[in-house]
Amino acid sequence: MRLLIKNIKTLAGIVPLEVLRLEGSQMNSAQQIDDAFLVAEDGIITRFGKMEELGSVEADEVVDAEGRVVFPAFCDSHSHIVYAGSREGEFRDKIAGMTYEEVAARGGGILNSADRLAEASEEELFEAAKRRAWRMIRSGAATLEVKSGYGLTTESELKMLRVIRRLQEELPATIKATFLGAHAVGRAYKGRQSDYVECVCQEMIPAVAEQGVAEFVDVFCDRGFFTPEETAGILECGKRYGLRPKIHANELASSGGVQVGIKYGALSVDHLEEANEQDVLDLKNSSTIPTVLPGASFFSNLPFAPARRMIDEGLAVAIASDCNPGSSPSGNMMLLWSLACIKMRLTPEEALSALTINGAAALGLSADRGAISVGRRADLVVSKPVPSLAYLPYSFGEELVEQTIIGGVKVDMR
Ligand code: NIG
Ligand code: FE
Repeated sequence: MRLLIKNIKTLAGIVPLEVLRLEGSQMNSAQQIDDAFLVAEDGIITRFGKMEELGSVEADEVVDAEGRVVFPAFCDSHSHIVYAGSREGEFRDKIAGMTYEEVAARGGGILNSADRLAEASEEELFEAAKRRAWRMIRSGAATLEVKSGYGLTTESELKMLRVIRRLQEELPATIKATFLGAHAVGRAYKGRQSDYVECVCQEMIPAVAEQGVAEFVDVFCDRGFFTPEETAGILECGKRYGLRPKIHANELASSGGVQVGIKYGALSVDHLEEANEQDVLDLKNSSTIPTVLPGASFFSNLPFAPARRMIDEGLAVAIASDCNPGSSPSGNMMLLWSLACIKMRLTPEEALSALTINGAAALGLSADRGAISVGRRADLVVSKPVPSLAYLPYSFGEELVEQTIIGGVKVDMR
């Protein structure tokens, strides 16, 4: 199967195959070609360049991208799209002045979603998650990470992970599963946090590993949730069972999450709204990717993570959606592109690198995706006709993805 995309106004996000992440100033300088073409064979990019170099090429599928920008599909490295119901009641409470922590402290928040998930059938959960995943694919994502964490019992965590496995089987996107049993202390363990942590380590992790339903282990390491010491125990246990750490850290306070993540070789530490100067400097001495979630800052009225500072310090920043019912109920990476530019002062090119190759790196997948290179997957977005690349984040909220292409195949956009 050969795909040819011709007359591309701007082909963006070109990175050499051997480059696995873009750090600091490199994030602004991924190459672009105007008036370009791209050829993919059996899902892999085999050629690209200036239209004048194309020559005659036979193809099974030809896309005329006149006036359009083509860029690597988004790699959303952090989401919670398996959930039941919605939480607009808490949305009202927050408008009235309650904080995320106050909502959680009175038994709402994550526990609210856990109650609903316990009642939902696996089929209902799957159908709802599938609809969300399709929305994300149609807004330009080809790779998604999906977490458990609304189960909070062994049985319900496994139920969530089975739903994620079905998403992996039935959707065209690549989907990676993360076990997040330590998202909050389950209701049955109220007041017995250390017993819950023991259950996560002794019961949940062995069961998850035995059933082979997750690749990564996550912990909500933050004020009022899990301490760095508890996180260390869970990550250590996860590593013994072959689960690589990717953790939630410093959303509510700079509470040692970054350092524990680095110590246990986390692929990424995510959120970082409250990251301080020391956290940034510690990240510089590690290969852990700082992943920022501008949708959570926007929706939850939290500070935006210091992504500008991180890039100026030479870090490889990733951006993900955090799509979840409590703190960020949108998986639209185009909107995050705008927020990263407007609220974090990233250039359109820096933000695109964060949403693509660095997101892939935060999942350990950047060797074969996240950028335009001969040899990488043809996971691509074709925009609607636009004046330039910068118009894409500038015209925030406009639906500008015309076509998502996954593995060289146009997905159904209806
Ligand atoms: O990443 N911060 C922790 N977990 C999610 C929110 C979960 C929820 O409120 O349902 C997040 O923001
Ligand atoms: Fe999250």
